[in-house]
Amino acid sequence: MFSDRRLHLKKPAEISLMRAAGLVVGQTLEALRAAVAPGVTTADLDALAEERIRASGAVPSFLGYHGYPASICTSVNDEVVHGIPGGRTLREGDLISIDCGAIVDGWHGDAAITVPVGEVEPRLLELARVCEEALWRGLAAVRTGGRLSDVSAAVEAHVRGQGDYGIVEDYVGHGIGTQMHMPPNVPNLGKPGKGPRLQPGLTIAVEPMITLGSQDTDVLEDDWTVVTRDGGTAAHVEHTVALTESGPWVLTALDGGAAKFAELGISVGGQGHQPVG
Ligand code: MF3
Ligand code: CO
Repeated sequence: MFSDRRLHLKKPAEISLMRAAGLVVGQTLEALRAAVAPGVTTADLDALAEERIRASGAVPSFLGYHGYPASICTSVNDEVVHGIPGGRTLREGDLISIDCGAIVDGWHGDAAITVPVGEVEPRLLELARVCEEALWRGLAAVRTGGRLSDVSAAVEAHVRGQGDYGIVEDYVGHGIGTQMHMPPNVPNLGKPGKGPRLQPGLTIAVEPMITLGSQDTDVLEDDWTVVTRDGGTAAHVEHTVALTESGPWVLTALDGGAAKFAELGISVGGQGHQPVG
């Protein structure tokens, strides 16, 4: 995807601006999580998201991106990513992934959640749980002195250890900053110890996509919606993370990642990078 392999390291003050964007995204996603219910349409969710983002003084980054027509992506069941909000009504038992991006002062935040609609089959809840846990293992691998592929390997190792899930390879995480998508690519699988060395100032979006069946995907006629070829249900979760002098800081998590990292035995970064005043 990118021939430019530079990491575009950010200064602490720039990371603080990305934190502002990340919080808008994180807060918007929490409002969306609370709004997901049987009978709600994906267009309802999009309207809520756009209103929240703009009320925060931010700009929805997806709207108009390569012609994309909405402020969020809503991917239901066999849809993996880039589902376009519209008249579809959510039904009890659906699993929806919602992806959201916002810009504050020119700096981007990008994150996604996977949410059950009402009562959902246990194997779908487990799919979502494995995807989320794999994301956090990947975020925890964002440490100074490590290598980029350590993040990919951490995601893969967790998923493989949990069962026979597909790991989507056609779409990957990415660098992020003054644009939503910047180098480097961040695949969700691979051998550890490869790629650029991780250093303070790195900002990436980590976004595992896993499936109940094969990892193969197709794009629908709308030229956006990515679906599993075999119709199996997919999950997709994402966070934007900055590597700071004091460790990884999850910019799109409301607590910066403190609670999840404590469970994993690492401490969250970002101290000293709070906006002044
Ligand atoms: N947020 C997606 C990603 O993580 C991109 C959304 S594509 C858009 O890479 F067109 F909807 F903006
Ligand atoms: Co992304």
